[in-house]
Amino acid sequence: MATFRDFLRRLGRRKNIDALVQQSATSEMKKILGPVDLVFIGIGCIIGTGIFVLTGVAAKQNAGPGIVLSFIIAAVVSALSAFSYSELACMVPISGSAYSYAVATMGELMGWIVGWDLLLEYLVGASTVAVGWSSYMVAFFKDVFDVTLDTKTTESPIVYSNGNFSIQKDAYINIPAILSVVVITAVLLLGIRESAMVNNVLVVVKVVIILIFIFGAARFVDTKNYKPFVPARVEGKYGVSGVIKGAQRVFFAYIGFDAVSTAAQEAKNPQRDMPIGILVSLFVCTVLYIAVSVVLTGIVPYYAIDEKAPIANALLGFSGTKWMRICISVGAMAGLTSVILILLLSQPRILMTMANDGLLPPVFARLHPRFKTPFYPTLLCGSLCVVLSGFLPVDFLGDMTSVGTLLAFFTVNVGVIVLRYTDPHRKRIFKVPFGQYVFPPLGAIISITLIGFSGADTIYRLLGWLGLGLIIYFCYGFRHSKIGDEDNVEDYYAEQENKNEFSSS
Ligand code: ALA
Repeated sequence: MATFRDFLRRLGRRKNIDALVQQSATSEMKKILGPVDLVFIGIGCIIGTGIFVLTGVAAKQNAGPGIVLSFIIAAVVSALSAFSYSELACMVPISGSAYSYAVATMGELMGWIVGWDLLLEYLVGASTVAVGWSSYMVAFFKDVFDVTLDTKTTESPIVYSNGNFSIQKDAYINIPAILSVVVITAVLLLGIRESAMVNNVLVVVKVVIILIFIFGAARFVDTKNYKPFVPARVEGKYGVSGVIKGAQRVFFAYIGFDAVSTAAQEAKNPQRDMPIGILVSLFVCTVLYIAVSVVLTGIVPYYAIDEKAPIANALLGFSGTKWMRICISVGAMAGLTSVILILLLSQPRILMTMANDGLLPPVFARLHPRFKTPFYPTLLCGSLCVVLSGFLPVDFLGDMTSVGTLLAFFTVNVGVIVLRYTDPHRKRIFKVPFGQYVFPPLGAIISITLIGFSGADTIYRLLGWLGLGLIIYFCYGFRHSKIGDEDNVEDYYAEQENKNEFSSS
């Protein structure tokens, strides 16, 4: 019996927050990111497929012009969790993001579950977006140069449709997706400064192009297209429930603000700048999303929106707009590139933090001696992303990105409540407004509810994924974990110092 109690106690071991703060402060990573870089990291990861594709799809299939309301609802849901992320990220400024918050508040097992789950958001998310990037590139070549790229080298050989896998005869490999991931991984390996610079350029390009669309296309708005603003419910579409369903679909468009927290160890002043990065990026994107959806549904009737390239093709009926359509395709490719970049920047940092805690082999924790990047996890994530996006139909995993993110949001909201209770006096530079019993529980409940709405298949896949993670945890992490060792603080800090000496030698 005592053994079983010990076993449970080990699963619930929590990481000491002082140790986490110390670990962040003594990290060898380059602390060069300022508030603007962090805001750009957030925008870099948020604006992508969601605005360039989902806006049109959800307006046409679910909400009509009411898509504007869907975006507002999804923004409120995201903001609830963004407040919680901000509070925890400035208290625990470490690269593990939701994984570290879960280890500190709910213990090792929950931490592992969240860390494993985050692979869905970041690694699977990056692979999904890389496949989307490839489709945009094929369309770009067709539109601009009238060149049709061969499906043999631009599509995955395996397709997934209506719950079944099959082999496509005329497709072998998705080379554009692979190339995009290889180039992005190379930039990430070079260093955080280089990665942030590339991201900043991509963000400027995509935001400028979105502004060109908003202001350039506003003159074509016909207010008749807004009537009715929420079309009557018909054949299971539209109406109030269509607006809610639309919100669930466009939630994907807001994923990414949380990635800011994975750069905490590379921020100059994380305590002050984490909340700025998270909240400002979310706010800017919300304003842009609402403006884009107002203009899009104003220039073309919702039922006539093109689902493949909704924003660019909405301009087809207006003369003199070819340059705008080309700009939008460029903006979409820049947008998707920065999303892949930040997702692949975030994932290795989470793996590195898990390895520092002993839950993954030590090789994942080693920084490159010169670039100070988590070299091996970056290489591993890039390689996995190449295989996933080059050969597999990752679109069937697309929904998993949203449920994976929602599960992380749930734990972060719960984490705020737990820490306010277990560690009430710790300094919090940013606090969730109205205390721990309003926004965090609401954020947690909505996150779980949205997971519930994701469909049985997606939930089974999530459970299967978590089950696989548990097997790996009990085979490795459980036996090698160092979580709780830091309670013996002197030995712990001596070990940390030795490790730093090793990596700087
Ligand atoms: N929010 C990101 C996108 O829309 C994931 O692509």
